[in-house]
Amino acid sequence: MIRQPICVLLAHVDHGKTSILDRISGNSIAKKESGGITQSISACEVSLNDINQICNNLLKKTKLTIPGLLFIDSPGHEAFTTLRKRGGNIADIAIVVIDLNEGIKPQTQEVLNILKNSKTPFVIAANKIDLVSGWQSNPSIPLIQSISNQSETTLLNFERKLYELVANISSFGFNSDRFDRIDDYTKKISIIPISAKTGEGFSELLIIISGLAQKYLEKSLKTNVEGLGKGTILEVKNEKGIGKTLDVVIYDGVIKINDNILIGAPNGDPIETKIKSLFKIKNGKFIPCKSITASSAVKVSTTEVEGIISGMPIKVFGDNREIIEKQIKNEIEEVLIETDNEGIIVKADTLGSLEALINLIKQKGIKIKKAKVGDINKKDIAQASSENEELNKLIAAFNVKQLESSKNIKIINHDVIYKVVDDVENWILNRGKNIEEKNLEGLIKPFKIKILENHTFRKSNPAVLGVEVLAGKARNNVPVTKDGGKLCDLKAMQDKGKNISESEEGSQIAVSFPGVTVGRQINEGDILYSDVPESDFKDLKKLKKYLNSEEIETLKEIAKLKRKENLTWGI
Ligand code: GTP
Ligand code: MG
Repeated sequence: MIRQPICVLLAHVDHGKTSILDRISGNSIAKKESGGITQSISACEVSLNDINQICNNLLKKTKLTIPGLLFIDSPGHEAFTTLRKRGGNIADIAIVVIDLNEGIKPQTQEVLNILKNSKTPFVIAANKIDLVSGWQSNPSIPLIQSISNQSETTLLNFERKLYELVANISSFGFNSDRFDRIDDYTKKISIIPISAKTGEGFSELLIIISGLAQKYLEKSLKTNVEGLGKGTILEVKNEKGIGKTLDVVIYDGVIKINDNILIGAPNGDPIETKIKSLFKIKNGKFIPCKSITASSAVKVSTTEVEGIISGMPIKVFGDNREIIEKQIKNEIEEVLIETDNEGIIVKADTLGSLEALINLIKQKGIKIKKAKVGDINKKDIAQASSENEELNKLIAAFNVKQLESSKNIKIINHDVIYKVVDDVENWILNRGKNIEEKNLEGLIKPFKIKILENHTFRKSNPAVLGVEVLAGKARNNVPVTKDGGKLCDLKAMQDKGKNISESEEGSQIAVSFPGVTVGRQINEGDILYSDVPESDFKDLKKLKKYLNSEEIETLKEIAKLKRKENLTWGI
């Protein structure tokens, strides 16, 4: 049997997810029963019958065989990440809702990045077209006709916004276009202009989604009506008169009252419990039912409720307790990596958000030592502080509580995933730069000076000479060399009678050379270099980006000098 495709709505806050869901469910439910729709579980099912009615004359050519569509809009913006299952996502298709007048916002960016990683097919609903200035709504005619009926300026304005969107979406690596201008739906993402306020574009949106599901997903939509039920917990909440309930999306098999089930726990063995009751939600009312077949959104009450959190797998185990238990453990372990020997620590509120965060952080080339579901605790902080590498003393967290504070490590915790990733990247970059700059400070840097002719102020004890800085910055108290061995430290650097600690390239200064006699170790016209130790040379090579081209050239000359005596110096 083919199950209905699971379609998740994703958007930046206020771009219109719920309004879209309301309109879709209103269209399908209002026909059957009266009353307002206050669905506590943000999911709705649209039957094939309803799709055919809503899309009436537009569907002439296509014959749909999917039984309907299941739409999900979980509260908060992490709908999609909560919906994970082994090796992927429960959602077959996503609708990315974008307010056409506002364009791509931070959470839209996050959503596009996550969709890219998960390779989930999606369409874009460009919502609120009724707000395009001058827009004349006419929901009773097909969208394309309504668009072409707009005045010239409105149309121009509308197209400009649409193509701004296309351009911005392309920066995420997706080709997109208005749905009616696309030939190959596998190569381009459809943008369907809609208005949740007027209902324009909804028939077109439903057709495109149904068509996509039909064409590309039919094979993966097969479900076994006898099979053990598999699902993911969308939300755990208290309901008056029922107690703690789980909002679950069943994506495979069947789930019945009295079924024995296992539910994943982030840190330990799965929780074993039994199905007490099952409810479908219709028109805001809980309708008890005995069994539910995938795919479906359902409210579940279980005998055991302690320790159950959202985002976890829930499975009927029947006679296969051991196998199912192992499956659930694997499913969780798949995310809780401990692969890198060293790296940062990652924490998140659900398994799905953790997975998304791990992927995004790894994409930046950042190593992760530990990733776990749950709040930031003492152990996490102890582990982060014990890292040798300064850049690993970091906990990147999404939407969790911080139970302990610490001065020694950095903690980045946000309720927007992309913000966590951005901040982690910036912190590592800046901290890395600080560390490098500090390291650089302690090194003897390359410089080159020339002893000037006719500027010998004193021949010895100590020799005082006029020099010109040819490259780099000459520094007081730094050893110099003429032929590779140490000559002496530069002392008492003076510029026009004033003591100075360093001197720029091109300047002429007076320097004293203790323990050196002019005419013996040095002569007027000699070229001297800073006596860079071998270990500093190696460090400087790594920090090359902080040296200018003259300094790099000088460093090479110093190495050449040193290698006269020791062939492998600095290698
Ligand atoms: P969150 O759940 O808070 O993330 O928001 P949402 O994406 O569910 O948005 P919601 O549907 O609550 O809509 C946000 C606001 O935009 C509401 O005031 C809606 O009435 C309004 N709105 C949604 N769609 C449209 C539309 O097509 N046109 C106009 N004019 N307003 C709309
Ligand atoms: Mg909403």
